[in-house]
Amino acid sequence: MNISIAGSGYVGLVTGAGFASNGHKVICIDTDENKVNQINHGISPFYEVDFDSLLSSCVNRKRSLKASADYQEIAESDITFICVNTPNNSEQDVDISQIIDSTTEIGLALAKKNSYHIVVIKSTVSPGTTESIVIPILEKCSFKKAGTDFGIAVNPEFLQEGRAVHCFFNPDRIIIGEYDRRTGDILQEIYQDFLAPTIRTDIRTAEMIKHASNAFLATKISFINEIGNICKKLGIDIYEVAEAMSLDYRISPHFLEAGLGFGGSCLPKDARTLISAAKDLGYEPQLLQAVLEVNRKQPLRMVELARAKMGNLKGKRLAILGIAFKPNTNDIRGSLAIPIIEELLKERAIPIIYDPQALENARKILGERVLYSNSAKEAVDKSDCVLIVTDWDEFKDREIYRGKMVIDGRRTLLEKQGINYERVC
Ligand code: UGA
Repeated sequence: MNISIAGSGYVGLVTGAGFASNGHKVICIDTDENKVNQINHGISPFYEVDFDSLLSSCVNRKRSLKASADYQEIAESDITFICVNTPNNSEQDVDISQIIDSTTEIGLALAKKNSYHIVVIKSTVSPGTTESIVIPILEKCSFKKAGTDFGIAVNPEFLQEGRAVHCFFNPDRIIIGEYDRRTGDILQEIYQDFLAPTIRTDIRTAEMIKHASNAFLATKISFINEIGNICKKLGIDIYEVAEAMSLDYRISPHFLEAGLGFGGSCLPKDARTLISAAKDLGYEPQLLQAVLEVNRKQPLRMVELARAKMGNLKGKRLAILGIAFKPNTNDIRGSLAIPIIEELLKERAIPIIYDPQALENARKILGERVLYSNSAKEAVDKSDCVLIVTDWDEFKDREIYRGKMVIDGRRTLLEKQGINYERVC
């Protein structure tokens, strides 16, 4: 099929390259001309495991993927996936301006097209958004009728950053929230080669499935962190507890890693969106609010531990290993390193930061307020205490910490010989 993708971030570009490598012809539309240029040269605008080779093979060898800044080009395709960003613009609200802009452009392009076209919302939008905002804009700008002249579906993405390519080709399930049956049938055909159960449902249910899934993952993490905090007070190893718990198939071993909590642009945002939607409807979502509150406090426990070990932190040099919100990405949105660094700066400590991929992004928001290192070893050597925030593989080398005080926010190190070592949980 001829597929167009609106938005070339992690979701859009990985999805586009994935479809292209499955034999579809893909055009990625993005308003950022620099990004478009990079993509057309086969260069990824972000760091993602296994993605560089996938993208360059689609662009250079097979020529099945190209990028453009011109929304009118979507008229040449049969189906458009909207994958633009929906960031948080405040503690409660999600900023859907990119959805509105993109939908407007797509509607205008559809006005000039005579054949049936499908619009699929892959961006995460709160339940009800497609019906109340996307469809009316598309109908108004295209002078056409949804379900008759063009099709609509919500097809949420479940890509994890750092594993996005793997997640694209190996989904656990495919959710098709369809407005009209014809659209659902075509989407099912596009996904026919994927070995995953397909759920066909209505669009609001699909929107909720995405939010409920992310909110549940967030809940699991805050739950295990709460148990981990209690275990720490009792001198019990939470990781042993979690491992034993995970043998119960109803619990499962995933998302039970205690530590600093969840960062990123998705889990915190989607939990906040649900809270806000529930409150608007007059329902007080106590559990979800507690999930976020546990998560807000968790990174600060690392600073408390440093204080307990070193006393006053003023003038002390603390190595911060890991700024990316998780390993294998250069994304620092929602990174738990940031509140830790802000707290250290309040105490007039000196953070010395290092990350294998995210230093450039870190510089944009931390500027000259911290010191930067070129390697983990250099940061550790210059520090009085080491805080491991993100569990990158290269931080697992015990040798670099010899003789140092280390506070591990994850379970990065498994042995502690020769190190003054403590975990947050
Ligand atoms: C999350 C979901 O996992 C994806 O399914 C979803 O598609 C995506 O959001 C999205 O909505 O786009 P992502 O934010 O990339 O993916 O990262 P996760 O792997 O979920 O990790 C989120 C955070 O939780 C990270 O900071 C990670 O370190 C932390 N985490 C994860 C834990 O603290 N403990 C765990 O056991 C697992």
